[in-house]
Formats: sequence, C-alpha cells, structure tokens
Amino acid sequence: MSNTWLKSAVFYEIYPNSFMDGNGDGYGDFVGMTAKLDYIKTLGANAVWLNPHYDSPFMDGGYDVRDFFKTSARFGFEADFDTFVKTAHAKGIKVVLDLVSGHASEQNADFLKSAEPVRNDMYDRFIWMNDVWAKPQGFRTVCGRYDRRGSYVVNYFSTQPALNYGFNRIDDPSWQMPYNSDAAIATREWLKSVMRFWLDRGCDGFRVDMADSLVKNDDDKSATSELWREIRDMMETEYPDTVLISEWSSPQALKAGFDADFMLDHAGNPYNILLRAENAYFSGGDAKVFADGFDAWYSETKDAGLIGLSSGNHDTPRLAPHYSAEQLKLIYATMFSLPCVPFIYYGDEIGMKYIKDLPSVECGFSRTGSRTPMQWDMSENAGFSTAARTFLPTERDKQVNVAAQLKDKKSLLNFVKELLAFRKSRPEFISKEFCVEYAEGAALCFSRGSLLVAVNPTKTKQSAKLAVQPKAKVLFSAGKGAKVKKDGVEIAPMSFAVIEN
Ligand code: NOJ
Repeated sequence: MSNTWLKSAVFYEIYPNSFMDGNGDGYGDFVGMTAKLDYIKTLGANAVWLNPHYDSPFMDGGYDVRDFFKTSARFGFEADFDTFVKTAHAKGIKVVLDLVSGHASEQNADFLKSAEPVRNDMYDRFIWMNDVWAKPQGFRTVCGRYDRRGSYVVNYFSTQPALNYGFNRIDDPSWQMPYNSDAAIATREWLKSVMRFWLDRGCDGFRVDMADSLVKNDDDKSATSELWREIRDMMETEYPDTVLISEWSSPQALKAGFDADFMLDHAGNPYNILLRAENAYFSGGDAKVFADGFDAWYSETKDAGLIGLSSGNHDTPRLAPHYSAEQLKLIYATMFSLPCVPFIYYGDEIGMKYIKDLPSVECGFSRTGSRTPMQWDMSENAGFSTAARTFLPTERDKQVNVAAQLKDKKSLLNFVKELLAFRKSRPEFISKEFCVEYAEGAALCFSRGSLLVAVNPTKTKQSAKLAVQPKAKVLFSAGKGAKVKKDGVEIAPMSFAVIEN
C-alpha cells in the first residue's frame, strides 16, 4: 500500500440524494454536501465515500450509470462537484467515489450503440448472446428489446447491462469471449479512462461496486484478480496517493490488490455474526464464534490490506431501532476498536432508524427505509430541505436529530465524537497488533498492543480471566465500564472499556 492515509482514515458514507438539499428541490446535492463538510470534520471523520453521483435515470439509486463522465444534474453543476472536492481537501477530508465497474444503465449511449443490428465499435462492449431464443444457464438475460439478434446479459437489475470483461472458462464460444481477448481488454482500458477522468478531477480513490463480478465464469476469481492488480498498478504509477476499496467481502479481494475490502452482511461471516445474524454477538450470541471468525479473517489478510467495517450502508437495514442508542454506543466502540477502517453511514451517528414498509423509490425496495433524509433538526423536513416534497419522507424526531444531540452531553452523537477522538489519539488502533485475550459466553476481550478492550453487551456483569493482568487505568468507557480484578477483569452490564495493558 503506497498510500498511508488510509490506515488512519475514518470514512463517512454519504448517499447524495439524502444528505443535504442546497437548492430546495427536495433532493440532496453538492451545494448541500459542501455546506456540511464541517459537520463531518467535527464528527472526527477524515474521508467521505459518496454513493454514485453520475448522470443516471436512477433505476437503481444511481448504480445505473448513463454517462460515466458526467455529474447528475440532480446533484448540481460540474463546478459544484469541483467545489465540493476542493473544499473537502482544504479541510483535510479525502473524497472517495463509487466506481460502478460491472454494468451501465440501459440508457447508456455505448450500450444503445451495441444494441444496433449492424456491427459497430461498441458491439462487443457489453455481453450479448448471438441467439435471441437461447436461455443460457447461470446468467440473467433480457431479450427482444432491440434489433440486434441476441439477448444481453445483465449484472444486477434488468436495467443494468453487463460490461464485457470476457470470460475465464468458456462454455459457449459462440458468444463468450476470453478475458484476455481484444474486446475484453478494450473494456478494461475504458474503465481505466473513467477512473483517470475522476482522479484528474481530484478524487482520492474509489469504492468499487461488485468488484468481484467483472470477468464471468471466473470461479476462482483469478482472472478478476488479475484485472484489478493491473488497475492497482496503474493507480500506483499514475496516482500514487489514491485508494481502491472493494465491495467483495472476501480475503481474496486484498490479494487482488485492493487496499481495503468491506466485510459485508453475508450470512455466517464475522460482521454478520457480530451484529446482524439472529444470534449475533450483540443480540445475545456467543463471543467466541465472532472472535474466532474475525481472528481467522484478520490473520489471513493483515499483511495484504485492511478490513472495512461499517455501521451500516445504503443496502442494509439500519441498526436502529433493532438496537437502542445505548447498545449502538457499545457496537460502534467495539467495532471501531478492532483492526479496521471504520465507515459511518450518514445518520448512524445519531441512531437514525430504519423505516419499515416505505414504498420503494428508485428501486430501493427494502433498502428504501435506510435512505431517508438526514435529520438535522426539528424544523420543516428535519432541516434537510425547504421543498414542499422531498425525495423520501423525512422523519422529525425530537431525540434523533443533530441539533438536539449536540446539546445533550450523553447523546449518541457526542459519544461517537469522543470515541473517534480517543481512537485518533492512540496509535495502537492503527497498528496491526490484535490478539483475542478472552472470548467466552458474553465476555469479549482483545488487545491492541498496550491496550485491552473489554466488552459485555448483556444485562448481567461478566468476568473475563486474563493470562496477563492489565494495569488498572481505564482510558475510555461506555456504560459503567470495567474493573481490573485479581485474575482478569469484571465488565459491568452493557459496558465497554479500554484499559491500559
Ligand atoms: C451494490 C450496491 O451497493 C447496490 O446499491 C447496487 O444496487 C448494486 N451493487 C448494483 O450496482
């Protein structure tokens, strides 16, 4: 990793539609986001990840890109984007964009050209079969919409045709091209041109959407990994201080050249076991199951790159109201004390709630309830917008808004600020040192160099036996914290503590 800033980065994820409306049209935009950069900074974040801001018909919240080289007019002028990046940099905040690498929108000009019936220079840019009647196994295809004789493969929704990075295993040579064919390489070069375009505009790297999906029939992901290593080399040579973060959720991603990889909510993985599974550690589950899983993942990846751990994201239900504000304090403290790059999804720092049963907007479906506008205060539209109608309904909640929580010393927002400030003050949290010291029942203790972290999410006090006795000094805590005893620590109910080791 040539970039060093990522090691001490704390990200704030912004869903542009929902953060701050600067022009009163009911949608968030760059003017609004720029005005709130100080808020992000005082929270303790030093990087933002922006969900797609590109020109799009918004049939998948902007993950259906119509023009990869253009800012959506919904979010402002190109100059507004540039001002956002410039202002963020002036405040010491890095800007990471979403790179939608696997597919485009069905309204993308290159795709429409590829759909013409006569061969042209875009004919092989997307994956087309040459028989409109065929039904290939293992692929989702759309047929009968264009005059080209064939169906096209989609990468996600049917509005998102798959870009052609070729195939590793060729089952049907009549339409599957090798991943090192000229056509597949041309797509790879096109992707690099998209990246260069935004890197030249000043962005500091990318979060790569569905990073493992590019080469098809790539069971061991070796060809996809080869592709990303080549792109990483390009970035290292041409843009040395930039980062590549994958949505992949596998130790393989870091070996493929990514600087960091998100651990997503996939059934049975450590993130899921920590927070989101039915018997998750924070919902009464066993500390050992989480600790063993995390330890194994970390040991496998620590020399290759970093793990991204997030409070939530635009695809998952928010943790509140399933977890209370007091539980969220323990969760964030535990998660961000682990060796990781922390990501805070906008609104999670105040405990914004997942809104159940909202009618889907822009193909958010069940994800819609995690995308409602940021709750700034108790004014109209919760301070998000002055429009008569907003992109999604705003929740006005006396407790869950920034203005109220700033005033309340014990609020979740102020806790997150203290937590991030403490984390920043201790180099142990960005070191590679991590060791599980005790994980039994509900008690979890791990060390980060000279710090011991102790957690108890239950309503009863827990004891943890430790091989090495920590010093008595508690440096940071939530709940009633923990006490050092003769042979270990006693952790108060619903508590978290960092103790000098
Ligand atoms: C993952 C993104 O996070 C999600 O929001 C999107 O719908 C799919 N990839 C498709 O791009």
